[in-house]
Formats: sequence, C-alpha cells, structure tokens
Amino acid sequence: MSDKMKVILDCDTGSDDAVAILTAILSPRIELLGVTTVAGNKEINFTTDNTLRVVDMLRSDVPVYRGCATSMVAKLLPNRHGDYTGMTGVKQDKLDDKGEVISYHHDCLPMPAPTSKERPEHGVWWLIDTLMKSEGDITLIPTGPLTNIGMALRLEPRIAGKIKQIIFMGGGFKVFNATAASEFNIWADPEAAQIVLTSGVKTITMVPLDATHQANFTREDEAELRAIGTPLAIAVADLVDERIVAYNAYQPQELADSAPIHDALCVAYLLDPEVLTDIRHMRVDVDISGGFADGQTICDTRAYPDRPENCYVALGADRLRFSRMVIELIRSFR
Ligand code: RIB
Ligand code: CA
Repeated sequence: MSDKMKVILDCDTGSDDAVAILTAILSPRIELLGVTTVAGNKEINFTTDNTLRVVDMLRSDVPVYRGCATSMVAKLLPNRHGDYTGMTGVKQDKLDDKGEVISYHHDCLPMPAPTSKERPEHGVWWLIDTLMKSEGDITLIPTGPLTNIGMALRLEPRIAGKIKQIIFMGGGFKVFNATAASEFNIWADPEAAQIVLTSGVKTITMVPLDATHQANFTREDEAELRAIGTPLAIAVADLVDERIVAYNAYQPQELADSAPIHDALCVAYLLDPEVLTDIRHMRVDVDISGGFADGQTICDTRAYPDRPENCYVALGADRLRFSRMVIELIRSFR
C-alpha cells in the first residue's frame, strides 16, 4: 500500500504549468495519476503538446488526457472577452531587441517535441471515471481555467464527495493581472470557477496572485539552474528567463528582475504546507456578470459573511522555501 499522495493535475501548459508538472513527477511523495489539459495560456493543441513535452522529457509514463478547448459559456457573449488586452493582449504586445513579441508563454515549450501521445479518452470523462472509482483520496490541482473541473461537476455532481481536496492556482485578493479586477485562470472561465467554489468539495485552497507574486524566481535561481547543466535544468532556466523578461515588460515585480512561477506553488504547498503563509478561511464567489469586474474572486472577509466560508485563501508565500524545493527536485533528475 503506497503512502504516496495521489494527485491529478489539470493544466493549460504554459511555462509555469510545466514547472508544476515536473515538480509533481519528480517528487517521490506524489503519485501523479494523470494530467488533464485545458485551453488557457494557449489553445488546447499547444497546451496538450506542451504537457506531453514535459512528461516525455522526464521519461515519465504519466497519462495525459485532452480536455476542453474553450470555456463553458464565457465566449457566448460577443463582447465579454472581445477587447481582452490583458497581459500580452494585442494593444499591449511589446517587442524585444530582436523584434520578437515578449510573452509569458510561447506556443511550444523550450523542450523536445513529444514522442508520446495523449490518451484517447476525453479529460473530463477520465476525471469523472477516476474520481468515482477512487477511495476519495485524490488531490486535484488545477493550474489553468477551471473548465474541465466545472464540466465534470456538472456532468457528475457526486465527484464532489470523492475529491479529497482541491488546491487551485487562481484568483486575486488584492493582486490582479487579466483585468483590473481579475486573475487570468478565473477570468477565462468565471462560471466554471463559481461551479467549483459552490460544489461542496470539503477542502478548497485558492492560491491567488497575492501569494504567487511573493514566491518569485530570480536571476540567481536562473543561474543556479544553468549551473546544474542538465537539459531539464537548462530548459527551466530558459523558462525562468522568458518569464522574467515578460514580467519586467508587462508586470514589473516588487522584487526587481524576478517572475512568479504561479502553478508550481500549488504542488509545493502539498509537499510542504509552510510554503504558503497567512492562509485565511473565507467565503469566495466569482463575479459572472460580464461587467468590469467579470471574473473577480469576491473574497468576503467580514466576520459574518452572507454565505458560509467555502475556501482557504493563501495571502503569502515563502519564496526561498519554494525555490529551494523546486531547484533541488530538478537537480535530482539526471
Ligand atoms: O494568472 C496566472 C495563471 O494564468 C497561471 O496559471 C498561468 O499559467 C495562467 O494559466
Ligand atoms: Ca496555468
């Protein structure tokens, strides 16, 4: 009987999702049952291909399942996401000295093209099937828009009682990125997020930008990765560099010349709860009105909230504890 923690990751792989996946695969304390992919940072073909690139680079047999290619309903309203210019939207694209668009995520990760294939089953049905057959001992770690999880909960609400806990990267308490009031994962599919938050899953932890922006990787971390010198360490160093360049261009950080690796912090928290600090139990709901605050995580901090608390919200993080853990796991892989 393995005492490893059973985990499912749901990712829109992207550069920081990639670090979350490798952290889970490289940890001897995690049994990664599978990764479901979702559209978000990039469209589904790229997020699935990138997920396979990470799994193959680690010579892992973790199965990858393609999930939903678009949000549940958000794109039905013509102007809801129409003028999206957040982060690297058209109006904000900046060019580097080579004339290339500066971006947090490129279509393809700086890793070899995948040789393995995604599994034939749709990610949402695999999630439902796996959770319903489980002993209720699976931790779900979504690091992209919550479309797959929202769809799974709508198709089979009983999975709410089978999920041990959800630790998701998303939302903002006072820090936002996609718009002045929202964080990208939630903004991309607000309805899915609200379904998850009102699903009745007994333990939900939200890792918002307020926490992830306190756990940035720096140029020193990049240099340490390059000094390790393995193909994996160099690839992650390249991701850190890309992200620092993008954050300097679009979201300059308090810690100069650094960048958050948002998604990996969720996996790190499972391995070492002390990487997150100032965790508060709150009522969190998502604005789905399609207005200026569309996708905002409304965190009710009042002593007597209108509805019962449903989420643990992390407002801080221990940067060194986090970066040490990830770098040492990468160092361990040859
Ligand atoms: O807002 C940051 C989040 O959006 C991260 O998960 C990043 O990968 C993107 O999905
Ligand atoms: Ca992500």
